Amino acid sequence: MLKTIRFFLPTKIIFGEDTIHDFLPEISRYGKIPLIVTGRSSVRKSGLLDSITDILNRKHITFHIYEGVSPEPSVDDCMKVAQFAIRCNADVLVAVGGGSAMDVAKAAGVLVKNTGSLQGYFGEEKFKNDPLPIVAIPTTCGTGSEVTRYSVIIDWQSGTKKTISSERIIPKMAILDPVAIKTLPPGIIAGTGMDALCHAVEGFLSIKANHLTKIFSREAITLIFDNIEKAVQQRKIEYLSTLLLGSLYAGFVINHTGTIVVHGMAYGLTIRYQLHHGTANAICLPYALEFLKNHGYEEEIHDLEKIFSIDSLFDINKKIGIPVHLSELGIQREDVDVLAEMAVIGNERAFRNMKMSISKEEFVEIFSKML
Ligand SMILES: [Fe+2]
Repeated sequence: MLKTIRFFLPTKIIFGEDTIHDFLPEISRYGKIPLIVTGRSSVRKSGLLDSITDILNRKHITFHIYEGVSPEPSVDDCMKVAQFAIRCNADVLVAVGGGSAMDVAKAAGVLVKNTGSLQGYFGEEKFKNDPLPIVAIPTTCGTGSEVTRYSVIIDWQSGTKKTISSERIIPKMAILDPVAIKTLPPGIIAGTGMDALCHAVEGFLSIKANHLTKIFSREAITLIFDNIEKAVQQRKIEYLSTLLLGSLYAGFVINHTGTIVVHGMAYGLTIRYQLHHGTANAICLPYALEFLKNHGYEEEIHDLEKIFSIDSLFDINKKIGIPVHLSELGIQREDVDVLAEMAVIGNERAFRNMKMSISKEEFVEIFSKML
């Protein structure tokens, strides 16, 4: 018998080349004074920021710009954007960038409308007032944040990543224009594309998966597997578009299922070694799947192996320039204990999406194999 299906998607999705030109002016439906929230340089360097400001100027839409979101955003980033939004009376936030810009815009939207500190809003539906509406324009092909209920922020107070989770922070509109990702460097295409693959795979294995999320998982996995190598090596818009679509489908998945042990293990690699989020996940994925296959997930992994083999993940990582072993990053045996401890903390939420918890000793075993 099929499991109960619950699927919620409140985002208006626009996908296609040059859609930013036609659909960006629709932000006026969500607010009168938009604040564009973006990172420190890549959106400006790519020319996308100029295109966006031209479109808005031609439509006589008054707007403000915040440039300065960190690649791995912290509580401080969110507070700065919220203070800026309050100063310019912004009533809609337009996140242009990768996961960091979207995560910060979501969190800042909560802070603008609620008086407490961000730490008080980590967790599930912890804030009272509805946040500012978000319009998302992703410029990487990996996070899926344009359709998710999560804002993931580094909290240096606790030394780990924390998540604000609420249906009310899901963007109102997402414009996925492949033109916005055409200048991505190969390393970012590889890292973000593999992040999306992890979302699709982890979502498939989550105990919250249902028939509908599994359809999107399978499709996302196929789209990404068939195109990531060509996208990284040739950077043609046709392959990048397909990755962007795979990333969107994987976003539909994790919005309902959450992620599992791969993301929880990778947090430590990002926080301690400043490794890119997606790259860290990509390194952990095959090792985590090998562990799960022998620890209660035989049937589910067998299902996944109808689409890809665990060994093929090592091959793909090699082909797109992602390390296969932690030693390639200078990580040594004496680092394993700390990584295992961080994985126990990083997986606090993930264990709720899994059949079982994993002990520190078991993480030591997995990280040791990764050396
Ligand atoms: Fe991710």
